[in-house]
Amino acid sequence: MIDPTSREPAGAARSADQYAPEHARDGAPGGAGTTDFGYRQVPEQEKSEHVAGVFHSVARNYDLMNDLMSAGLHRWWKAFTIRQAQVRPGMKVLDVAGGTGDLALRFARQAGPQGEVWLTDINGSMLAQGRDRMLDAGVLLPVAQCDAERLPFADAHFDVVTVALGLRNMTHKDQALAEMARVLRPGGRLLVLEFSRVWAPLSPLYDAYSFNVLPWLGRSFAGDGDSYRYLAESIRMHPPQDELARLLERSGLERVQWFNLTAGVCALHVGHRH
Ligand SMILES: C[S@@+](CC[C@H](N)C(=O)[O-])C[C@H]1O[C@@H](n2cnc3c(N)ncnc32)[C@H](O)[C@@H]1O
Repeated sequence: MIDPTSREPAGAARSADQYAPEHARDGAPGGAGTTDFGYRQVPEQEKSEHVAGVFHSVARNYDLMNDLMSAGLHRWWKAFTIRQAQVRPGMKVLDVAGGTGDLALRFARQAGPQGEVWLTDINGSMLAQGRDRMLDAGVLLPVAQCDAERLPFADAHFDVVTVALGLRNMTHKDQALAEMARVLRPGGRLLVLEFSRVWAPLSPLYDAYSFNVLPWLGRSFAGDGDSYRYLAESIRMHPPQDELARLLERSGLERVQWFNLTAGVCALHVGHRH
């Protein structure tokens, strides 16, 4: 199921510029100052409000819905990410867009009392769920509500930075990646787990599942079909594996590689700060 793939040669048809805000792109189509929210184009300053609405709405049922929608696969993707992160006692770790805290909880245990593990997210409802889970698990760690595009941490502070299933929701992915690179110490690593491009022969089946079953699950179990339609659309709007690798490189990360998980439904990108 895991296909470790090193960098492909440059030269794919689309440019990594596409994932900068449209007004910042050279010759990009679309109106000035607009960006994608799923398949809709919205004024750039509104995207974060729409995304906030989605996660306020799903926060209470988030963990249950993750299990239902992925048939538990998200646990395996995260376990793989945690193994690749290689967190050791005493390390400093930042989990960006950490939501209900699946990664931060494990990192806190691995880093131990000498370590420093932060759970951060822009959304108070998601963080409240995460904080409650930490307390239930008897884990104490610092929690910060902050935007990945403006991280409130010093340069070169962390050994490991992670962002799991969060990057595609960000308005300025290039800015968020640059911030994550900034707070990494030289030699530190960024791990980006995100939905990606599924192996082409599976794509019709995957599309049918995404645009029919996901909204139905959302309506039936969380009373909210729209948020799960956004999920399916936002996955299609996110850069595929090779383009995301180039975005990481443009953020100053080196030796970028990725691992396809479950035939590319998800991919884990890893980059090193020099
Ligand atoms: C799908 S959840 C992922 C949560 C968790 N990392 C996980 O893997 O289960 C996406 C998270 O990204 C957060 N998010 C979206 N935009 C963000 C931003 N600009 N800065 C920080 N977090 C953001 C959302 O609030 C949400 O909690």
